[in-house]
Amino acid sequence: MNKPIINKGGSLLERAAEVYDFSAHRTARAIPDSELQPAPAPKAAPAVPAMPVVEAPKPVEAPKPVEAKAVPIAAAPVAKPAPVQPAALPVAGRQARIDRDLLVENQMLIPGAPIGVLAEEFRLAKRQLLLTARTLNAQEPDKARTILVCSAKPGDGKTYCAINRAISMAAERDTRVLLVDADFPKPGILQRLGVADGRGLLDALADPSIDIEKCVVGTDIPNLSLLPAGAQTNADVELIASGRTPELIARLLAADPGRVVIFDSPPALAASPASVLALHVGQVMLVVRADKTSEGEIRDTVQRLEGCEHIQLLLNKVSFAPGGARFGSYYGQEDEEQ
Ligand SMILES: Nc1ncnc2c1ncn2[C@@H]1O[C@H](COP(=O)(O)OP(=O)(O)OP(=O)(O)O)[C@@H](O)[C@H]1O
Ligand SMILES: [Mg+2]
Repeated sequence: MNKPIINKGGSLLERAAEVYDFSAHRTARAIPDSELQPAPAPKAAPAVPAMPVVEAPKPVEAPKPVEAKAVPIAAAPVAKPAPVQPAALPVAGRQARIDRDLLVENQMLIPGAPIGVLAEEFRLAKRQLLLTARTLNAQEPDKARTILVCSAKPGDGKTYCAINRAISMAAERDTRVLLVDADFPKPGILQRLGVADGRGLLDALADPSIDIEKCVVGTDIPNLSLLPAGAQTNADVELIASGRTPELIARLLAADPGRVVIFDSPPALAASPASVLALHVGQVMLVVRADKTSEGEIRDTVQRLEGCEHIQLLLNKVSFAPGGARFGSYYGQEDEEQ
């Protein structure tokens, strides 16, 4: 297991370190700009953009109460939708249009819009992911292209961060993003993007005659495609834990060597798919609600995800302002007025 890393160069993790006790971690070096460019893409596994990394604290100390710091609210994207461009690669399945109004309504990133605070935060968040992906690329090139988004509990912002992560990464050159809805009990990716549901991962897991690639939905956001969760079944846990899962992931990766696969998942403390998927991905993005998730919950969640060596904390904060049109923030962007 690699030693835990905290990037003290970025504002996010400095704030995270102030909120949570990561004293067991070592400090990562500053990343020169020259390293932030995606490396020339090898055929089998192109470079993956980076996110901030805090590798999981392994030595578990006695949990102590976490003092949630007030995180100033970052500006939500309000820019106009970008002109629609064709996707870089056609997908085998159907094509769908992403509802830009829904993106605005849910305070998501708007593809092609001028860079706002939220977009800049996600851009910054790519740095450490790139470093980790490069390391992984040398050892396990396919795993380097897989990311699991999860959190301890419901409502922490997994789906929000997974969609924004996907939109942000799809803007990268030479990177095509497949966003997979692996939250089987409560799928929400397609609905939140205004895309009709359809056959998906569970169907392909249950029926070997289904070509999973044909379940992939292309979108009018260049380089972004979606994979629905599929028809709900009581056997979802058994299906995701079956040997078919790594086979299907391999099929999705082999279908496009420039593809990065991002999985949204159910809360790790409430359901097991995240633990299972953690075995098959290169990196885990663990969404932490700054105002809600306790340190003990983080430790418990990390234990459930121990199948993956590279766990990154993403500090997310949602504050609800009654009657306010906007209520969200994305981790820790300082408000100039504060
Ligand atoms: N940083 C944020 N800014 C604005 N809204 C946010 C932010 N984070 C989360 N939200 C909103 O909070 C709500 C809950 O977030 P989300 O659905 O992403 O959580 P989740 O962890 O996926 O929940 P579940 O476990 O139930 O699937 C959603 O309405 C989402 O749009
Ligand atoms: Mg969700």
